[in-house]
Amino acid sequence: MRFEALYERQGSWDIQRPQPAFLRLAEQGMIRGTVLDVGCGTGDNALHMASLGHPTWGIDIVSGAIGRARSRAAERGLPFSRFLVGDVLELESLGMQFDTVIDSGLFHALCDQEREFFLQGLRRVLRPGGLYHMLGFSDRQPGDTGPRRLTEADLRATFCGVWKLVRLEPTLFETNIHPGGAQAWLATVEA
Ligand SMILES: C[S@@+](CC[C@H](N)C(=O)[O-])C[C@H]1O[C@@H](n2cnc3c(N)ncnc32)[C@H](O)[C@@H]1O
Repeated sequence: MRFEALYERQGSWDIQRPQPAFLRLAEQGMIRGTVLDVGCGTGDNALHMASLGHPTWGIDIVSGAIGRARSRAAERGLPFSRFLVGDVLELESLGMQFDTVIDSGLFHALCDQEREFFLQGLRRVLRPGGLYHMLGFSDRQPGDTGPRRLTEADLRATFCGVWKLVRLEPTLFETNIHPGGAQAWLATVEA
């Protein structure tokens, strides 16, 4: 499986600290109540939200990544965090709803059909009025290695209508291979 193999060495996205874009969201009060981190990887963003006192769940399909997230949660004594191995294309099977869903590099890694399944599930797990924050590579990032780039038009087409797009701004996605960060979009959608 694609991501399983990538976790055998350190993924370019695995920067061992939260993404600055998510730190700012927390400072701005845009992380509310219970949090779900979709495609949480080794858990840096989720663990930050848990450290702020938000009951936080992380879900990822790679068991090794979830194992590392659980170890870090235990080391840091974060009882409000829970990490599970699971498929974000079946979010409704969680049988839960959250106030905030965070996504660092998951949506941009999905193909079109996977995005449809993911968004169907997202509608079920996000409470009315809840926020989904998506950080993904933008078309301003040169080259074509790494994830498929997101355009402003893509994001508006995806999120406007059923959802309320409350924020769409250029930002940076920190990685281990892009000095200064890769060009990205931060989109915030309200259910
Ligand atoms: C670019 S990595 C980002 C990881 C983490 N959010 C971070 O910022 O460090 C994308 C993550 O999505 C996970 N992923 C991809 N497809 C998935 C799926 N169908 N269900 C759950 N996780 C998935 C991968 O295993 C990987 O951990």
